[in-house]
Parts: sequence; structure tokens; C-alpha cells
Amino acid sequence: MATPHITAEPGDFAPAVLMPGDPKRAERIAQMLMPDAVKVTDVRGIGGYTGTCNGKPLSVMASGMGQPSLSIYATELFTSYGVERIIRVGTCGGLSRDVQAGDVVIAMGAHTDSSINSRMCPGITFAPLASWQLLAAAVAAAEGDPTVKVGAVASRDKFYGNPIEEAERLAALGTFGVEMEAAALYGIAANLGKQALAVLTVSDHLFDSSQDMSAEDRETKFHKALSLAVAAAHC
Ligand code: HPA
Repeated sequence: MATPHITAEPGDFAPAVLMPGDPKRAERIAQMLMPDAVKVTDVRGIGGYTGTCNGKPLSVMASGMGQPSLSIYATELFTSYGVERIIRVGTCGGLSRDVQAGDVVIAMGAHTDSSINSRMCPGITFAPLASWQLLAAAVAAAEGDPTVKVGAVASRDKFYGNPIEEAERLAALGTFGVEMEAAALYGIAANLGKQALAVLTVSDHLFDSSQDMSAEDRETKFHKALSLAVAAAHC
């Protein structure tokens, strides 16, 4: 039966879903990876696609921007469509000097300024973590590529207006990148006993604007992130 934000039927989604933020990107990923992709939902322009990738079922659906939006889709996919694994494939802004634009960050954990996980366990500051199984599969697929980094990101509620001192402090704490969705995804997966991972291409660097990537570079690096996400989806 349809949920408030997804009109698909039970069984329309594969156990693994790749989840970019942008609905247009979701469509492009589906076309790129699955010649047999079928659109299974399109509420509010958030298309969901299911097909076969490397002989295994796979779905792709966008999250929209920010933790509240992602939370709606991830919760409905996990609770009403039998989805077991969601792998976010997106971008992040570089924070630490140890990453540069074009690197891929596999987010082992996600700090956040959001209160989205604050009721998870009263009295405890919950640590939003990736699924170890998915993390290990993505890391193995990277085959030691030095441009693939594994560590913490920060999931912020605001794109604009964040104090620069906070970004500096997060960078000093070794945080690789800043984005807006991973912490909520990890919290929802933990709460529901499901699996989640975020594989992020560093699209720019907060402390070095000279690092902006060429369109060609952006596409190549995005393909790398996508291949790691597929490895996690099918592990
Ligand atoms: N914040 C800042 N810079 C970024 C982000 C973000 O969420 N995503 C990509 N670059």
C-alpha cells in the first residue's frame, strides 16, 4: 500500500536503495546502472526506480535536501517497502586539510548540530554510525585508493549561516566533510535495525575555494563514489 510520500506497491523496491539528494541525479543513476529500470513512484517529483544492476535487484530514489526530508523517505522505505539497506550517494564540502575536492569520503560516522537523534536514548548522546558491513564492502571496493577517505562527516541543518569557527573546530577534530543528511540516515537505520552508509564526493573545500572541480573531474569522481556505493548495496 502507498505511504504518504511514496505511491509504489509492496515489492516495488529492491532490498538495497541508492539515495542521492537530487531527483534528477536519481533518474540519471537509474538510467546509467539499470537498463531495465522502471519508475515505481513519483510523489512531489521524487522518482523511485527499480531494476537490475550486475544481475542483482537495485533501487534508486532521491532524499531531497536536509535531514527532515531524508527522514521521511528513509523511514517509509524501511518500514513499508522491505528495504534493508540505504546508501546515500551525495556531495560534501571539504573541511579537514586531509581532503581535497574530488576525493571520496566514506562516512564512518556523522556529527550533527541537529536535534534529530536527540530522543534516541534519553540521557545519552547518540553516535550516528554507518553499518559496518556496508562500510567494509565500500572500503574493500576502493582497493586502497588514496583519494578515498574513511572517517567522520558533519551533518548540518543549515547550508548557510553556520559560524566559520565551528567549521574550523570540526576540521581540527579531523572531520572530513560537511553535508546535510547522513546523521539522520544513520539514526533511522539504527532505530529500525536496518543498514545505512553515506558515500560522498567532496565537491568543494570550505577553506580553499581554488579547489573547485572541472565538470569532467566531477563526473569521473562521482562515478568512483557510485561504484563504491553499488559494492555496499550488493554486499
Ligand atoms: N555545506 C557546505 N558545503 C557543501 C555542502 C554543505 O552541506 N555540500 C557540498 N558542499
